[in-house]
Amino acid sequence: MQYGVDYYPEHWDKKDYEEHARLMKEAGFNVLRTAEFAWSKFEPRPGEYDFAWLDEAMEIWQKYGIKVVLGTPTAAPPKWLNDSKDILMRDRYGRKRAWGSRRECCANSPDYIEASKKIVEKMAQHYANNPAVIGWQIDNEFGCHNSTRCYCENCRQKFAKWLENKYSSIDELNQKWGTAFWSLTYDSFEDVILPAYNSCEPENAQSFSHNPSLDLEYRRFASDSWVDYQKIQIDIIRKYSDKPINTNMMGHFADIDYYNLAKDLDYITWDNYPQDQWNVQEHEHVSMAHEIMRGLKNQNFVVTEEQSGPCGWDVMGPTPEPGQIRLWAWQAIAHGGEGILYFRFKALHYGMEQYWYGVLDHDGIPGRRFYEIQKTGREFQKLEKYILGARNNYEVMMVRSYDNIWAHDIKKHAKGFNYHDIEYAFFKANNDLNIQIAVSKGNYEGYKIVYMPAYNIVDEKEMEKVTKFVEKGGVLVTSFRSGQRDEYNNIRLDTLPGAFKELAGIEIEEFDAVVKPTHICGKISSAVKVWADVIKPVTAESLCYYSDRYFKAKSAVTVNEYGKGRVYYIGCDLEQEALKNLVRMISQDAKVTISEEPEGIEIVYREGCEIILNHNDHDVITSHRGISLLDGEIFDGRLNPYGVEVLEG
Ligand code: GLA
Ligand code: ZN
Repeated sequence: MQYGVDYYPEHWDKKDYEEHARLMKEAGFNVLRTAEFAWSKFEPRPGEYDFAWLDEAMEIWQKYGIKVVLGTPTAAPPKWLNDSKDILMRDRYGRKRAWGSRRECCANSPDYIEASKKIVEKMAQHYANNPAVIGWQIDNEFGCHNSTRCYCENCRQKFAKWLENKYSSIDELNQKWGTAFWSLTYDSFEDVILPAYNSCEPENAQSFSHNPSLDLEYRRFASDSWVDYQKIQIDIIRKYSDKPINTNMMGHFADIDYYNLAKDLDYITWDNYPQDQWNVQEHEHVSMAHEIMRGLKNQNFVVTEEQSGPCGWDVMGPTPEPGQIRLWAWQAIAHGGEGILYFRFKALHYGMEQYWYGVLDHDGIPGRRFYEIQKTGREFQKLEKYILGARNNYEVMMVRSYDNIWAHDIKKHAKGFNYHDIEYAFFKANNDLNIQIAVSKGNYEGYKIVYMPAYNIVDEKEMEKVTKFVEKGGVLVTSFRSGQRDEYNNIRLDTLPGAFKELAGIEIEEFDAVVKPTHICGKISSAVKVWADVIKPVTAESLCYYSDRYFKAKSAVTVNEYGKGRVYYIGCDLEQEALKNLVRMISQDAKVTISEEPEGIEIVYREGCEIILNHNDHDVITSHRGISLLDGEIFDGRLNPYGVEVLEG
């Protein structure tokens, strides 16, 4: 199993390399990731290359048995490149980004692509046969720092070509996009604009007031641009090396369609910071991020940046308390991780990330966090056979689609509508009942329940698959704002819930962007926020009714028998506790395993073992018992603060 750290020799004095390697070994590390920001070290002047400094460090790492994952350095272009070429992005106001941080480049800049190709080729040639290199990372966190969408002339021209590839003629595009509205008809693909700033942009809104078809297509195009940029690098490395290739992703981040980005990669890696300057996340939110990552290829992943200290850029988030780093690492493993690299080895005293603490503090003396990481590594080593290649026993899946994320962002339906929050509410409800829930797309087989909340855009192919799933006995749970739009981001003409009407056996008579107090009663009771569909059951049966307003006594939640399966339709946004009650009921009916434990306890069932995590800062007694695989002792159900237990199962 890869157990390691992120380490950058260019940050340190050569005389410290050996001592650092010794400490890495002592911590139990067998791999490090490096080089992804070292372009100006590798190529100090155009066409002048220097790899000696890294070779030297690599020899030392070899001596200590530490393998290397090499990152291509294209996320941080050197000053000379910026000064001599046009590589920078333009924002939607047409302003050029300033060089001086990282990720300022446009994926479609020919100059940037040319320079990237050269440095990647040189690196690949130089390191392909180095025995220390066990893998490659392409670039670093594509899309980070709001860098997915660019509005430059290169992008405009590429977008025109992208559209030409997709549509048979400009007339087809005009028709599909409804450009008759506001006189937006185009004469040629070259004519098509980018959805940049225009004067009717509402204050504080993300929506650009552009044609929604244009906006969605442009987001798809911008995402594809990075997929293509990544592929250019992959193809170059493949000429020289057959070692596995990854790029580090960002969990919930959604400007790039990660399914597409993942297609060309051998394995998924991602960066996990449960509590930093910006967020102290709920543990379910972190688990969902792991599941999103695992679901991209339905394959186990490696965490290539795992939090190992307090961290932030300008201010710091809370310091991980004793046990938390170990807990987070085990949480990653539980949800499909099979390798952990901590970010970073030692906190750096200069540069932007002075406050990003690592395994070691600035003074480099092993402390509490170092020893916790060492202990965790030993546990992983001992239980490696339960980790490598292990599969989780999922009974339920939630479908996640980037088209939907973007479409909901472009047209938010109602104030307070947030697709991420809706998906998270469903994930959390399942996770809190310790239901094993995957987050993925495209394959519905083998699950008892599939959740498609607010599934706005659904194409025919997907609809066919979902229908088959239900016909064969599967349970589908869908909700308000599902099936409302087509792939061009236009509203469908059939009665709501559009594509899901037949399956759900209902028609939506009316709907309301909820502002006034609204409630439901019946199988569950709840206050209603944000949205309410007034449902007319056709073949479906009602489970809940509105209890006030002009639609009092009308249906709010329904269930429909379809083929051998059934379809639940949830017409309104519920309070979390009510949603959990509903999920419990649906799961019990579908014979899905539920394990109700005290709050903050998470149980993950894998092939061969069961991992129990205590996310609380206090002792908890769980209902589980057994022999601990960690220490061979009897586990009586009691977990320490942030405790972890692994049982045979
Ligand atoms: C990201 C990046 C790293 C580093 C950390 C900490 O995850 O990939 O290079 O910047 O954040 O900020
Ligand atoms: Zn651009």
